[in-house]
Amino acid sequence: MLVAAAALTATVASAQNLDAGKSAEKLFADGCATCHRSPRGLAKGRFSLTLTWFLNDHYAASSDSAKALAAYLESVDGPPPRAAAKPGGKSSRFSPHPPKPVQGH
Ligand code: HEC
Repeated sequence: MLVAAAALTATVASAQNLDAGKSAEKLFADGCATCHRSPRGLAKGRFSLTLTWFLNDHYAASSDSAKALAAYLESVDGPPPRAAAKPGGKSSRFSPHPPKPVQGH
């Protein structure tokens, strides 16, 4: 158990500079998939803080890996509601056609 936990921590620590999502995915495949066949549906729309706390408390050896896993579970759990209204998207692409200039009567 301790060895597995240490391995998890090492994985996260060494992969952190690369792709966090990828490392968490591997983390899940290595340490969680035995019991949870799919990462989907585990986050259940929880707040990431609650999820992180849960993972930290129950599984992960470090808060870093718990955070990464929580983010991963959330990312595969379906798009969060606010993803549709991301500030980066602005309205330009989806703006309805501009109002036509009013012609003189
Ligand atoms: C030894 C088997 C086992 C392993 C390994 C395991 N889990 Fe679990 N996990 C469980 C069980 C059993 C539950 C309780 C399921 C329930 O209450 O519906 C649970 C519950 C959870 C929940 C809460 C789900 C819910 O319905 O509230 C999350 C999130 C979760 N696990 C994530 C993980 C993550 C992430 C990992 C890898 C770090 C992991 N688990 C590894 C057995 C395992």
